[in-house]
Amino acid sequence: MRIAVLGGDGFVGWPTALHLSNLGHEVHIVDNLSRRWIDTELGVQSLTPMDSIQERCRIWHQETGRKIHFHLLNLATEYERLKSWLADERPEAVIHFAEQRAAPYSMKTDRHKVYTVNNNTNATHNLLAALVETGIDAHLIHLGTMGVYGYSSVGAPIPEGYLDVEIDTPTGKKAQQILYPTRPGSVYHMTKSLDQILFQFYAQNDGLRITDLHQGIVWGTHTDQTRRHEQLINRFDYDGDYGTVLNRFLIQAAIGYPLTVHGTGGQTRAFIHVQDSVRCIELALQDAPEAGDRVRIFNQMTETHRVRDLAEMIAKLTGAEVAYLPNPRKEADENDLIVKNDQFIALGLKPITLAEGLLSEVVDVAKKYAHRIDRSRVPAVSAWTKDIAKRVEHDPEGKRLRSVS
Ligand SMILES: NC(=O)c1ccc[n+]([C@@H]2O[C@H](COP(=O)([O-])OP(=O)(O)OC[C@H]3O[C@@H](n4cnc5c(N)ncnc54)[C@H](O)[C@@H]3O)[C@@H](O)[C@H]2O)c1
Repeated sequence: MRIAVLGGDGFVGWPTALHLSNLGHEVHIVDNLSRRWIDTELGVQSLTPMDSIQERCRIWHQETGRKIHFHLLNLATEYERLKSWLADERPEAVIHFAEQRAAPYSMKTDRHKVYTVNNNTNATHNLLAALVETGIDAHLIHLGTMGVYGYSSVGAPIPEGYLDVEIDTPTGKKAQQILYPTRPGSVYHMTKSLDQILFQFYAQNDGLRITDLHQGIVWGTHTDQTRRHEQLINRFDYDGDYGTVLNRFLIQAAIGYPLTVHGTGGQTRAFIHVQDSVRCIELALQDAPEAGDRVRIFNQMTETHRVRDLAEMIAKLTGAEVAYLPNPRKEADENDLIVKNDQFIALGLKPITLAEGLLSEVVDVAKKYAHRIDRSRVPAVSAWTKDIAKRVEHDPEGKRLRSVS
């Protein structure tokens, strides 16, 4: 199959491109490399040394004889180029990762909020409009987030995208399924909620075939393909904006930094290993909706954990300390989370869970590249509101010079 991987230079996009190429598909990465520019803006870098995308594709070809094509294109601002690219390449499937994906980055300043909304909603809408205009009947798979559901404890399992409701009509109660009400907890999550409405409209109005994957927090770094050569290594974010919770704990443990738990650590979140993430995309590709179907929604996660339990587990495994810090986010201190993921299990997913071996592999990778870490960029300091900003801890290690006066 000819597959476009939009955002294929990123943390999940790159191993997905390799996975699909390895399965024999013709893979085209489309990326504007904005994530690399954001590293420059923030003054951070991936923990793992990442080659240019062209070099990565060259090494893949050298190792496997398979070609991955790269196209530099901004989905959000270059609509006409996107349209002609689609018309020329005519992909049979499009996997859409190309959005600004860090909640803390989206909350940094008003400029970051504006950028995230413009980038994400325009990228998604441009793609939808261009698919309709070019008449390309590609299966569109989008990477959404579990965060669209919000994190209030409702007590009932979160269904896969749609909620059964009963509405009162003059002739009695009528059953209906509606999109699960969104409750985004950041500007980033808000853009993913807006994406859902865009998908609903284009599936119903134009018969676009769309799958939306509500993904949990991705952990791990290697997949079977990124392990094949040092220069195929995946990016790995440790900083306070882009590092995600479980990976951050593992990196912190590797460099002797206290595990930074926000608030009581009572937040319960959904997780998935990066190897399962790429496998889920393979499974979703094989199960495309028909034109006229509603958007197919999967919960792409394999397990849920409370943040403080994760910290305590990793502390026990590695001997690291745990630091409880003021929470820079506006969110419930404690929540429960039960999530349905029956569809992927039915399609054959065999979940990788938090096995010690894989946790240690991440710690080993982090130790190997520990010299590349700037410890001052480890704390999460983007605050959700101006009031919260006053209590954010910038120096969990207590290393900064203090005034003596
Ligand atoms: N990493 C996670 O834990 C996680 C969890 C849930 C959902 N997701 C979703 O999966 C997707 C991929 O996440 P990731 O961790 O790989 O993110 P990432 O930031 O590493 O990769 C995103 C890629 O998209 C590119 N991009 C962004 N805007 C673009 C534009 N306008 N035009 C072209 N390219 C653009 C970036 O340059 C980058 O290479 C995101 O949409 C994210 O919301 C990720």
